[in-house]
Amino acid sequence: MALNSKSMKLDLPKLIGHRGLAGVAPENTMPAFEAAARHGLRFVELDAKLCASGELIVLHDNDVKRTSTGRGRAQAMSWAQLKKLDAGSWFDPAFRGTRIPRLIEVLDFCRAKGVGVNIELKPNRGDYVQTARAVATLLQQEKLVGQLPLFISSFSIQSLRAARDCMPELPRGLLMERRTTLRHILERTQELGTCTFNYDRKLISAERVQQLNARGIPTLIWTVNDANEARKLLAMGVSSIFSDFPLKL
Ligand code: G3P
Ligand code: CA
Repeated sequence: MALNSKSMKLDLPKLIGHRGLAGVAPENTMPAFEAAARHGLRFVELDAKLCASGELIVLHDNDVKRTSTGRGRAQAMSWAQLKKLDAGSWFDPAFRGTRIPRLIEVLDFCRAKGVGVNIELKPNRGDYVQTARAVATLLQQEKLVGQLPLFISSFSIQSLRAARDCMPELPRGLLMERRTTLRHILERTQELGTCTFNYDRKLISAERVQQLNARGIPTLIWTVNDANEARKLLAMGVSSIFSDFPLKL
């Protein structure tokens, strides 16, 4: 699926590795991105948020408890504290010693491997705008725009507004997790300048996919780990699927 934003064309594949390759290695860690590259995935998704000392880290939850040996909110922890946590053994003892990565580490790796990255802005409570600005600053400082395929998305309207304003050249996707009307989606899409609609597999309908396709808005669906379901969704006209097990599909 080719997307056109103001100055960048993006070609998203049908299958996108979710949180790296979350089915085979601990989500959002370097082994998950390494596995994705090794298995030939062209695009991965990740969750980016700020920690207390200002670094952008790759972590899904607000709290580190589920995916590491620590506990507490990442927002209240410094990078020096976060990097000491074991973010691998909860998944499998073989991954003991795996760290929570900084966003720059993952982007550097993906640039070197030619893997595209969907950066989901996953702000902590209250830092919706700062998270988008920090990503824009990082991409600019590290001269990453144009170096690898990049795609920004968020559930946060405030983060997407900030992304529209501070990195307008990058294609952006509107994430939604509640049932909503076509009108609402179209209004948001127009206001935020997003080029895709990213939706939960449990909420999507063939009618909605067709309505959006007719208006030139591709639909991206998460998280699909069943091959039959993936086939049905793609036959319905869904453009891309986020999967923890894309190789199975
Ligand atoms: O971007 C698709 C998907 O990752 C959104 O849900 O909760 O996995 O971040 P979540
Ligand atoms: Ca995500």
